[in-house]
Amino acid sequence: MQRASSNSNTFDLVIRHADVVTASERFTCDIGVRGHRIVSLGEDLPEAAVEIDAEGLLTLPGGVDGHCHLDQPMPDGMRMADDFFTGTRSAVCGGTTTVIPFAAQIKGQSLVAAVEDYHRRATGRAVVDYSFHLIVTDPSPTVLNEELPRLIGQGYTSFKVYMTYDDLKLNDRQMLDVLDVAKRHGALVMVHAENAECVAWLTDRLVEQSLSAPRYHAAARPPVVEREATHRAIALSELVGVPILIVHVSGREAIEQIRWAQGRGLNILAETCPQYLYLTADDLSGEGYDGAKCVCSPPPRDKADQQAVWQGLAGGVFSVFSSDHAPFSYHDDHGKKLGGVEQPFQKIPNGVPGIETRMPLLFNGVHEGHLSLHQFVALTSYKPARLYGLYPRKGTMSVGADADIVMWDPSLRKRIENANLHHAVDYTPYEGIEVSWPVHCISRGEVLVKHGRYLNPPPGRGQFLSACRPLLD
Ligand code: URP
Ligand code: ZN
Ligand code: ZN
Repeated sequence: MQRASSNSNTFDLVIRHADVVTASERFTCDIGVRGHRIVSLGEDLPEAAVEIDAEGLLTLPGGVDGHCHLDQPMPDGMRMADDFFTGTRSAVCGGTTTVIPFAAQIKGQSLVAAVEDYHRRATGRAVVDYSFHLIVTDPSPTVLNEELPRLIGQGYTSFKVYMTYDDLKLNDRQMLDVLDVAKRHGALVMVHAENAECVAWLTDRLVEQSLSAPRYHAAARPPVVEREATHRAIALSELVGVPILIVHVSGREAIEQIRWAQGRGLNILAETCPQYLYLTADDLSGEGYDGAKCVCSPPPRDKADQQAVWQGLAGGVFSVFSSDHAPFSYHDDHGKKLGGVEQPFQKIPNGVPGIETRMPLLFNGVHEGHLSLHQFVALTSYKPARLYGLYPRKGTMSVGADADIVMWDPSLRKRIENANLHHAVDYTPYEGIEVSWPVHCISRGEVLVKHGRYLNPPPGRGQFLSACRPLLD
């Protein structure tokens, strides 16, 4: 912790008796905030215009959700229910004060045009601060030699590539090209690892047998499909000599590959998400079409995989815990029931909502003894801030950092109910699970959630954050 007192002794906000927990330290102090920043961590600070008594609460850095999808342009009549307003409103109500969604290139489109379009979608809408990852789907010579290097220099220092989905996937040669740019210009590549050919082959066989229910989504994407692609992504990263981050890792087979690579000294980072801790493939077999609510890729696995994911979180295999919030409503012509019609499994929009429930669900890991509080902060805030170039402005509690502060009451346990969430999605896959909730949430010095109540700040107060070079240690 960097402790210091400011020269002037006036504060806009003082948080008293804060039991502060960061990724590595725990200490009690008063927190003095002036403007957007933390300016003092001390004792008996003078009275401020706004005072919060944090006695009995845990005071943590605001969450950084390093993987979520908001108002992302979609093909084939699909549309996300959350834009930057409803998505960031939901985020902060769950303790997340920074989001990093994706500016996605449509094949044939310029990457710069995709970024400009995404800024238009965010401007005037976001309630908390945001940065962008890029999604590279068309690594043309112009993209590789001109656009990507320029965008990295302008603060877009992480990008996702897909090994699956026809409209997004890259082949191995294209992956190598993108990895090479990342290496030369100091960016971090996030990889969606599933073998597209295997998925297509399995899907065709299921379709031939007229097997179309949501549960066949899991049959078309078994663990071996993810394991093979994970291993291949690791090999490509080793060949180029650049770190990668494997996103949304679902279970033990992929974890084995990552652990193996990490054991060999390769710089392979990994992310997992709430759906792999709380859902299984059985959730895709719900009543009628209900399983569509839990269709995401990779699909949820089984109980043993959930245990492996908890162990991977506790044991350091994973660096980040993200929501992968993909907001498609169930009763929506642009969501899970495209065109108002129940879809065969291969046409169901992929993804589950979870931007508001991410931190409460992982906090259960602290509650149940799987994780320490420091690990919770590292996975949900400190590490994503570092990897995505936002540290030390975000991800910590030190003098000079943005005053993004969340206070939790571990004893306040309440069931998740979609009716109480703040996203625009008409369901949550986590209905009924009991969790702890944040009590007060502060974004850049402004209280946005007080005693659990959202205070309706104006859309547009959230600021774009230009990212620095990833910090990988
Ligand atoms: O199923 C998922 N994960 N959908 C969101 C898009 C992605 O691949 O992250
Ligand atoms: Zn993905
Ligand atoms: Zn995603």
